[in-house]
Amino acid sequence: MSRALAIYPGSFDPVTFGHLDIIERAATLFENIIVAIGVHPTKHPLFSATERIELIEQVVRHLPNITVEAFDGLLIEYCAEKKASMIVRGLRVTTDFEYELQIAHANADIRPEIDTIFLPSRTKHGFLSASLVREIASHGGDVTRYAPPLVCDALVKKLAITTKKP
Ligand code: COA
Repeated sequence: MSRALAIYPGSFDPVTFGHLDIIERAATLFENIIVAIGVHPTKHPLFSATERIELIEQVVRHLPNITVEAFDGLLIEYCAEKKASMIVRGLRVTTDFEYELQIAHANADIRPEIDTIFLPSRTKHGFLSASLVREIASHGGDVTRYAPPLVCDALVKKLAITTKKP
């Protein structure tokens, strides 16, 4: 198995401790990791791709082998373009596995030379999702257990702007 470059893709809207756990563990398995933010023309994320890149860059500062980028189009073609040998995905619950297995099979069908590796999320992060964190924060709840402090600060600021009454 080539350990040179793996891609960890996701929406990261915003990055949480669950994502960070996967990034930190993947960083010990591969020489280099690109955290790749998928940009969908039809999705309306809370944070722009540029903001999400900046947030992730700041929370992975302690890891020298991580870069952060955005991509559009098919993930597997982006991986080929980057000459990555592996896609990393985190699994929280069995429904994640069912979904991820189908995607992994489809990606392998398109480019069998690029494989997918699954890392189980730690149990304490099993229920976490970016939308859950956004939802709690949008009602003024405390999300400091779920996301790094600078992400929590960015959420408070962003939600103050987006929920501002005219
Ligand atoms: N800890 C905490 N939360 C996690 C997590 C972890 N370890 N792993 C996933 N999640 C959460 C995310 O926060 C996200 O939450 P949300 O739905 O509330 O926002 C949710 O699980 C989905 O995970 P994410 O990793 O963002 O994946 P996604 O299903 O949104 O897919 C791409 C994002 C970019 C990987 C995907 O859209 C993609 O590959 N797009 C390109 C097109 C393509 O190639 N499609 C496949 C064709 S075969």
